[in-house]
Amino acid sequence: MTAWAVVVAAGRGERAGFAENKVFQPLGGESVLGRCLRALDATGRFQGIALVLANRDMDAYRALTASEGACASVRTVVEGGATRQESVLNGLRAVPEDVDIVAIHDAARPFVTDAIVAKSIELAVRKGSGVCCAPVVDTIKHIDPETGRVRTLDRADLRAAQTPQTFRREAILRAYERARELGWSATDDADIYERHWGEVCLFEAPGAALNIKLTTREDFLRMSQGFETRIGIGYDAHRLKEGRALILCGAGIPHEKGLDGHSDADVAAHALMDALLGAIGEGDIGRHFPDADAEFKGISSMLLLARVMRLVREKGYRVVNADVVIAAQRPKLAPFIEEMRLNLAEALGVGFDCANVKATTTERMGFEGREEGISAQAAVLLSKGGDRA
Ligand code: CTP
Ligand code: MG
Repeated sequence: MTAWAVVVAAGRGERAGFAENKVFQPLGGESVLGRCLRALDATGRFQGIALVLANRDMDAYRALTASEGACASVRTVVEGGATRQESVLNGLRAVPEDVDIVAIHDAARPFVTDAIVAKSIELAVRKGSGVCCAPVVDTIKHIDPETGRVRTLDRADLRAAQTPQTFRREAILRAYERARELGWSATDDADIYERHWGEVCLFEAPGAALNIKLTTREDFLRMSQGFETRIGIGYDAHRLKEGRALILCGAGIPHEKGLDGHSDADVAAHALMDALLGAIGEGDIGRHFPDADAEFKGISSMLLLARVMRLVREKGYRVVNADVVIAAQRPKLAPFIEEMRLNLAEALGVGFDCANVKATTTERMGFEGREEGISAQAAVLLSKGGDRA
């Protein structure tokens, strides 16, 4: 059995009212679309994802993959249509013919869980369709369009349909092609399927209450409450010594002296690691990489930073942004700032604008001013969750 997901992201997000399509909006240190793709990818249940995007958003998508990393499961990116229905059809047509099952999912639902995906695929395999839905919490009133009469519906009998809506590929593609021929329009996939094949199979899974579609500005506000944020600070100083290389944030800097230490003595990376460890309550680098340990002798601090980032990720956090200040009288660091920022952005898994590096002299005051050493300070903001709003 092979399964693909069709992720539709080709809307304009008009109701959310941001300057760009809402799926590129950051939420908890990650874009909505990036989070959605990562969540689907993490289930390990899809051999491929067909991502449906509007042409006008291709640059934004390229920027997203550059800063957040590309999702390995995205096998094809296809152009969307004027309506969600057209976008879904374009996505379905792009799924290879030997694929058995297709889960159609809104990019605007980034809080989808493995339990939901698993159930929808299982039902699609067994019964032909698996449509995720949630109980209705408000009492729904029906207004007769002709008479204006208001009727109260029994909410126990109602369900709100979400996505994923998962089907056998051939069946849903056929229903969509037919809908196009006959000019049917529908707001969800189940409706199209029902009209062609009959009843769909609904299911409720844990997590459906949080599997909301980010539609309005208020939805973004509400869901951002669910993120836990942590800050951390770090400070370090190393002595300058002849015969040592000067490495700052992983960049080699030509100078007559370098920093002395057990590792490569990258003082800026050390301050940053301490900030990260501080934010996750894990002490400091001395505890994780003791000076007495031969394993760390001469080691690149960027390798140590990668280890710290593993720890950060294991604890479920992502970096929102980091800011580093280096105090050095000499050499002039301005020509190396961009390289340092690129190194940090890659190591931290953030965009260039979220990894800042500054350099300052101390106007010849103190040990940095006397060129006895270089110091660095760092601050980081981490974020976790989005699943407890
Ligand atoms: N969508 C799409 N193609 C369209 C319209 C919508 O792929 N022509 C996608 C959206 O990107 C979203 C999902 O369908 O992931 C659900 O639609 P909706 O929440 O309505 O998003 P938008 O259409 O972007 O928002 P709005 O209706 O407020 O403009
Ligand atoms: Mg819409």
